[in-house]
Amino acid sequence: MSQGTTVVVRPARNIEGSVHLPGDKSISHRYAMLAAIAEGTTRLENFSTGVDCASTLECLQRLGVDWQRDDSAVVIHGCGPKLQAPSLHLDCGNSGSTMRMLSGILAGQELTSELVGDESLSRRPMARIITPLETMGAKISANNARPPLRISGGHLRAIDYKMPVASAQVKSALLFAGLFAAGETHVEEPVRTRDHGELALRAFGAELKHSGNRASIWGGQRLRAIEARIPGDLSSAAFFLCAAALFPGSKLTITALLMNPTRARLLDILTAMGLRISITQLEELHGELQGTVQVEGGTLKGATIAGADTPALIDEIPVLAAIAPFTTAGIEIRDARELRVKESDRIAAIAANLRAMGAEVQELDDGLKIPGNQKLHGAEIDSFGDHRIAMAFAIAVLRAEGETHIRRADAAVISYPRFFDTLESLVQR
Ligand code: S3P
Repeated sequence: MSQGTTVVVRPARNIEGSVHLPGDKSISHRYAMLAAIAEGTTRLENFSTGVDCASTLECLQRLGVDWQRDDSAVVIHGCGPKLQAPSLHLDCGNSGSTMRMLSGILAGQELTSELVGDESLSRRPMARIITPLETMGAKISANNARPPLRISGGHLRAIDYKMPVASAQVKSALLFAGLFAAGETHVEEPVRTRDHGELALRAFGAELKHSGNRASIWGGQRLRAIEARIPGDLSSAAFFLCAAALFPGSKLTITALLMNPTRARLLDILTAMGLRISITQLEELHGELQGTVQVEGGTLKGATIAGADTPALIDEIPVLAAIAPFTTAGIEIRDARELRVKESDRIAAIAANLRAMGAEVQELDDGLKIPGNQKLHGAEIDSFGDHRIAMAFAIAVLRAEGETHIRRADAAVISYPRFFDTLESLVQR
């Protein structure tokens, strides 16, 4: 990311107000990619405003996909199953989702493409997609199992694959590749991860079987364009929900928010920690649930996040960890080694920033132990170029004493460009 902007955040007294969030990042990526290989024109209202999803759209353009964007929607003219050979590399920017999931589609194309990423993405592990996609018949070269990736695809065969890592990106990549393979592809995950890939494939007209942690798809199916509205991003909402949790007098409403059960574990955890949460206006849009969430603050108890909860909360852990010192009993996070290979080493980044605020924190190989009831001060925080670290600490420091400077805070644009404006509109001082 850029060398960036420093943002100053002052302590708050309360959180109050109502917000409507841009569309979920995970769904936006998947809908855009499937729209590209569908027949017909797809219209996606409330598409994510994040730079990551713009990276997906730009890669699709280089593959011959025509799209337009206005204030409210992205319109994508599908090419059907065959994309055009790109004359330039595909720049995935900071987006692991773009690189991994698009690789699934590119593995099925009779063309050669090169996917590159920024400095952070260039450090991230890609063996998790290279191994199964090569087994299906794609030829992939990489830099020591890291980007850039050069993919020569086509003529895939179906596989029955047990994923060694719990990763929704890998699951989606393999199901997307399965669309182009001869036979039926089976993908089994070690624990249940977000199911947006499965729901999106069905929304675009594919038949997909699902049982337990196993999804199966037949190759050769054609996709049809859709008209959809994307529910608000639940991982962006997490920052405001945790901000509300910091103050007993908070009252916050988030409308049209994603409520997919494989993503909503945060609401259960925050309820158990003492937040009062009610959900109304539930509706289903192309298999995805959305609803209006109202929350009121209370006493903030501690929590342990481990086992199957960890992958279910993987993007919310940074903000939960950042507010942990203000809980009564602290927060312990385990089984979270994956956090070390996200946009930054999030375990190290959280520990460093909490310590800068004067917190006591124990860094573990696979997590963190953060005692509760701590009094922290404002500090110099570094986002490490990671959007979720920038936003997590913009929340935590609302309860610190004194002002905080967040370096490289503009990393927030990756998932939520208007984050700091929206936060200011909710904060009472
Ligand atoms: C995502 C899955 C998770 C998550 C990422 C988005 C997705 O990554 O951290 O922000 O949309 O499938 P992994 O699949 O690497 O766990």
